[in-house]
Amino acid sequence: MIQKKIALFASGRGSNALNIIDYFENDPRIKIQFVLSNKFDAPIVESAKKRGIRVVICSNKEVASDSYLLDLCEGYQIDYIILAGFLRKIPLSLIRLFDEKIINIHPSLLPKYGGQGMYGKFVHEAVLGNNEKETGITIHFVDADYDKGKIIAQFSCKLSDFETLESIQQKIHELEMEHFPRVIEKVLF
Ligand code: GRF
Repeated sequence: MIQKKIALFASGRGSNALNIIDYFENDPRIKIQFVLSNKFDAPIVESAKKRGIRVVICSNKEVASDSYLLDLCEGYQIDYIILAGFLRKIPLSLIRLFDEKIINIHPSLLPKYGGQGMYGKFVHEAVLGNNEKETGITIHFVDADYDKGKIIAQFSCKLSDFETLESIQQKIHELEMEHFPRVIEKVLF
């Protein structure tokens, strides 16, 4: 059996990254090679270490450079890169080499509420402000255009007239926890 080697990129709390780590913990088909974070004090750094996962901290300058991520991922023989709340732009050099091998999760039903500056609560605030009747998550491949890569799967939830920022965040969080690891599994195998 050939084991698929995964890199997880995360910049924040890392609930998605941790959920993925836990989901594949006893799966011999998958090896999480490392979690990469551009923030040394992001909560994901400690939580990944506690689970015995290698953590790589990098600077924003390194992320933006053409060779840093490329060399890192080649060095660890990475097959797939999962962006789980990673807030930096992925350089073209990496996107070209990992064509349909970089998977991102976005907390809206793309193409709605995507693009630069649209992340986290900014997405949900916009959804709330527009009185949307539904929102959801999009899991997609990453290509050169921000939030415009080929869509792999979308999951939606209904919104009532009484939603708050927190209630929308909670609904999105539940969708992410339920679906992201399963979709990754489907793509990989
Ligand atoms: C998630 O909502 C994800 O969709 C978005 O950023 C958030 C990250 O949350 N890309 P976490 O760090 O995984 O808890």
